[in-house]
Amino acid sequence: MNTSRIPFVAGNWKMNLTPSEAIRYLDEFAVLLPTDHAYEVALFPSYLVVPFVIGNLLKRRDIHVGAQNLSDRESGAFTGEVSAPMLTDAGCRYVLIGHSERRKIYGETDELLAKKLSMALQHKLSVVYCIGETLAEREANQTFDVIDQQLKNLIALPHESRPNITIAYEPVWAIGTGLNATPAQAQEVHHVIRTTMSDHWNDTGKNMRILYGGSVTPANAKELFACPDVDGGLVGGASLKPDSFYNICRAAE
Ligand code: PGA
Repeated sequence: MNTSRIPFVAGNWKMNLTPSEAIRYLDEFAVLLPTDHAYEVALFPSYLVVPFVIGNLLKRRDIHVGAQNLSDRESGAFTGEVSAPMLTDAGCRYVLIGHSERRKIYGETDELLAKKLSMALQHKLSVVYCIGETLAEREANQTFDVIDQQLKNLIALPHESRPNITIAYEPVWAIGTGLNATPAQAQEVHHVIRTTMSDHWNDTGKNMRILYGGSVTPANAKELFACPDVDGGLVGGASLKPDSFYNICRAAE
């Protein structure tokens, strides 16, 4: 799919919304969101809720679905894991990889993330790859070093996989804190990410989508999405209510 810079708004529900809550959510959201929106919309429910959401969205092919994680293994004796082929077969188009909660709470390293990336891409999942610095790293002026390091896994990808990558820049200090990056802070980092990716991937890097994530709300989305190198958002807390998520989607118009 050629998605070059079509605005993209993704709702990361994290470990929220049970199957029945998700179905009620979709009933409301489907009424709010017209089918002919000019931006892409995707929801990322928990693994268990993915099939309920996909089943409920049969008539709404304009709303895409992704998983929040995947295993680095293809199949076998890995209790509690979910594989890329399972996600593809269940109807997922996307998967999140490298979210800071996975990196920080579950100790996922760049090495493990490289394996997950390769597994996802091999099974035709599109990837939203999350990167971002902590507050301590920002205060120590290490933001761009951290970003550079985190982009290495992407830079190494073969040509054919590259169009299936969206980057989400999510400063860790802005996630779930109510402290969003200012549009100027977001634009500064997004510009560096785009420059780095264009240096390595040429036009594919120049035209790729880079989402901002971290305390995006209906009140700040418009300003953030208006930045020249911001192509939409990865939204956590404010995606849990259909009206709030819809108002963020509209900011991508
Ligand atoms: P938040 O989360 O919008 O609640 O800050 C964003 C994310 O973690 O993707």
